Amino acid sequence: MQLKIALLAGDGIGPEVIDQAVKVCDAIANKFKHDIQWMPALTGAAAIDAFGEPYPEKTHEICVSSDAVLFGAIGHPRFDNDPSAKVRPEQGLLKMRQKLGLFANVRPTFTFPSLIDKSPLKRERIEGTDLVFLRELTGGIYFGERGRKNGGNTAFDTCTYTREEIQRLAKKGFELAMARTKKLCCVDKANVLESSRLWRETVQAMEKDYPEVEVTYEFVDAVAMRLVQWPNSYDVLITENLFGDILTDEASVISGSMGLMPSASVGTKIGLYEPIHGSFPQAAGKDIANPLATVLSAAMMFEMSFGLQKEGALIRKIVDQSLSEGIVTEDLVKGDAKAYKTSEVGDYLASKIEIYKSSPGEVF
Ligand code: IPM
Ligand code: MN
Repeated sequence: MQLKIALLAGDGIGPEVIDQAVKVCDAIANKFKHDIQWMPALTGAAAIDAFGEPYPEKTHEICVSSDAVLFGAIGHPRFDNDPSAKVRPEQGLLKMRQKLGLFANVRPTFTFPSLIDKSPLKRERIEGTDLVFLRELTGGIYFGERGRKNGGNTAFDTCTYTREEIQRLAKKGFELAMARTKKLCCVDKANVLESSRLWRETVQAMEKDYPEVEVTYEFVDAVAMRLVQWPNSYDVLITENLFGDILTDEASVISGSMGLMPSASVGTKIGLYEPIHGSFPQAAGKDIANPLATVLSAAMMFEMSFGLQKEGALIRKIVDQSLSEGIVTEDLVKGDAKAYKTSEVGDYLASKIEIYKSSPGEVF
């Protein structure tokens, strides 16, 4: 199969983790006889330096002419500490999500048996956790009207949602629930916010179309608590943009490291795949960042954008193998075992894929 993939490494550790995902994808392409055409393009601080904006038109053109986008991370400390900066790397990510119509962000949280003890949470609470957040990604307070008044002494950001925006996200949530355990939780703050009341009303009206799905409605503050108390009790959760941003960072604690959780952003056509972690500037250039979230994002890309299930499954299998054999970066090292470099983990994964011989009964 011909796969044309836009490659947006971005800032900080982005280029390092993306390099490993490329090694893994190329190994998969070799093994399964695909032909990947990588289309590199600039985003974030790197694009601001080159073009004066974080998501230049040229980058957008490359994305829309590709079948999928693989993305690293965005953000640079020189902008974080300057509240008056007119252009920020993060604006690039938001513009990209909006221009590519990526309204649904799929963020799974799961545990790896060999890493259960890396989580600060108790084993018996988290074992078997396998949940998915569907975070609305192109609406809400991230994109509402904002500004200053009273001579700059009052600031406001507004959260706006239309029924249509909620319906299209909720539809994906119901469909995902149908493909899983048929449990859907709508997370909102309907006891206070009008936009949340519209979410609840809209989702309630859709229940009749999915009679097999058991829907619950919970307030975001309660979910924040129960998520780390009884993560096992959730399956598919749908929520608005900001709540989803916060809850998915929280949920990553369950898996033991933020460097592990992948994500997919989808909408009408093209899909974008990225780790949920940020640009981690303190680690940039040191070859120590964990590449697994990006590698697992590439697995999601094979499955969701190309329908290549075996390819995705083999990546997951080899990632599991690297974890159980302790070929891991310093964030996952146990006791005084050796920490591997980012690039070494990538080399290990790629070489294991190339030589993998399936055992009887295996699909790949
Ligand atoms: C994320 C990030 C972004 C967000 C930032 C970098 C704009 O935190 O993808 O979760 O808030 O959506
Ligand atoms: Mn976030």
